[in-house]
Amino acid sequence: MKFILASQNQHKLVEMQNILSAHGVEVVLQSELGLHVEVEETGATFAENAMLKAKAVMAASGLPAIADDSGVCVDALNGAPGVYSARYGGPELDDVGRYRLLLENMRGARDRTAHFTSAIACAFPNGDTIEAEGICPGMIAYAPQGDGGFGYDPVFFLPQLRKTYAQLTPEEKAAVSHRGKALEVFDQKLREYLKGK
Ligand code: IMP
Repeated sequence: MKFILASQNQHKLVEMQNILSAHGVEVVLQSELGLHVEVEETGATFAENAMLKAKAVMAASGLPAIADDSGVCVDALNGAPGVYSARYGGPELDDVGRYRLLLENMRGARDRTAHFTSAIACAFPNGDTIEAEGICPGMIAYAPQGDGGFGYDPVFFLPQLRKTYAQLTPEEKAAVSHRGKALEVFDQKLREYLKGK
């Protein structure tokens, strides 16, 4: 089974391929098919945005499409950056600029609790859809640590492992991460769906 990933994000692609390939599911970037569908993330939730992206790419390609919408929600910031994680601080910031801004906005905050959410949506040309969600609780570190991963990984600290996401191997991250958990649920739902076909 082959899905078009409704994203340009190589890191997401690799994480999704690593997890789903074990179950015979192939994921390819839309650019590999010459597609460049840009979807405005107008949804109020991760799930809405994921479905918007999956449906747009499915409509443009005529093939099953899969999307992940994800972000970090920080309790001391009333859930920010949340669905705005990719746009936090405006378009001129890169990943490092965004996590530095987050650390800046958390300066003096004693409550460092946060969680990452990943919403996975897939849309089939016959109109069927599958949705799944995964959450990983953690804390915002006081300073970045580690150089693996992407995005906010260097500042997302997992107390039980005493490491940030950026200090984990891809396998270790997949075992605990929001995306790993969402993909596990997705994989179960996909199997059920395909059984009924
Ligand atoms: P979107 O889902 O493409 O709207 O963007 C999600 C944003 O959340 C990314 O640009 C990252 O900044 C952040 N994000 C999502 N997943 C992760 C992750 O696994 N590690 C670190 N940052 C992430």
